[in-house]
Amino acid sequence: MLDFKVKVPFFDATQLYSANKAELDGVIQKVLSDGAYINGPEVGQFANQLADYLNINQVIPCGNGTDALCLALMALGLNHGDEVIVPTFNFIAAAEAVSFLGLTPVFADVSPEDFNITAKNIEEKITTRTKAVIVVHLFGAAADMDPIMALANKHQIFVIEDVAQALGSEYNGEKLGTFGTIGCTSFFPTKNLACFGDGGAVFTRDQSLANKIKMLANHGQQKKYDHQYVGVNSRLDTLQAAILCHQLTQLEVNIDRKIALAQHYNEGLKSLNIDIPVKREYTKHSFNQYCILLKNSEQRDQLKAYLADHDIATMIYYSQPNHLQQAFSSLGYKVGDFPVAEDLCGKVLALPIAHLSIAQQDDIITHINAFCANA
Ligand SMILES: Cc1ncc(COP(=O)(O)O)c(C=O)c1O
Repeated sequence: MLDFKVKVPFFDATQLYSANKAELDGVIQKVLSDGAYINGPEVGQFANQLADYLNINQVIPCGNGTDALCLALMALGLNHGDEVIVPTFNFIAAAEAVSFLGLTPVFADVSPEDFNITAKNIEEKITTRTKAVIVVHLFGAAADMDPIMALANKHQIFVIEDVAQALGSEYNGEKLGTFGTIGCTSFFPTKNLACFGDGGAVFTRDQSLANKIKMLANHGQQKKYDHQYVGVNSRLDTLQAAILCHQLTQLEVNIDRKIALAQHYNEGLKSLNIDIPVKREYTKHSFNQYCILLKNSEQRDQLKAYLADHDIATMIYYSQPNHLQQAFSSLGYKVGDFPVAEDLCGKVLALPIAHLSIAQQDDIITHINAFCANA
């Protein structure tokens, strides 16, 4: 993310600001002069705006996406040792939140086509101790929610949706994050809806869960110094909320731009021996990441190095599945436990997409074609 000096950076955070500098300067100056830096009116305004956008009644802003997952799990009233199923091909946040709260992460494999956890992956891991599943909509593509919700209802388990990479994506015309018991997101600068620092939110249709989450995020209190729960301090700063109110007005345009860029990549790469993202009819993919699959890790690493030599930055999401991370070694997983996730880690490569110009994209496509011609 910090490779600003290359010709095509993977992500250039300065563009978040420069694209709308005048409006953002106004928004920032207003918060600075008003002085309500914590819980200012923009925080509630943003929560309402996001609730309207998602078509959900309750949005609770919080400090970041990892806190959002922790708050969601805390609100469900789970007990030490209860099992929560999480996809192993993922950023560490979901499994980390589960472990941090004394619950047991139970890893599951994912679909080789869209990288997401499926009802079948989940079903294989359900035991009498399973209380919840965290469905992560990876890279902006929707997991297949109808079978997942049917399975969860059958087994009476909670569904937490992590839309940190998929805010604005849709499943059968409805926004992701609104199907399960609770939705969680992050506003980290690389996300679809981004602030200029850390931020996150939790959303739900369940009023009593929403009340509890609000309290948990505010030291477990509703009234000042009257603490009903052991909570945490997890707030979205007023400044970030004000920025997000503005950024939310740009979200659909930004997603449409990324969809167009993804289509251009698809066209430019389709005749190569490379797997491009699979199009599922039920999803509006927001392309938070555009990930391709190479034949094997050797070819992936060669392409990455070749593009770097031509001043084009790429990223590997993810080089290691969660179940093989040292942090989870006490859980006893081993190589071979989740073959799809392990295979994906060796083959996946994310190409730049956010803030990319067509000229930059054509340059990338030309270089990938040249690489494949000589491979
Ligand atoms: C899928 C997913 N979930 C959760 C998070 C955590 O968000 P944050 O960095 O705001 O804590 C991330 C961040 O990259 C993520 O990609």
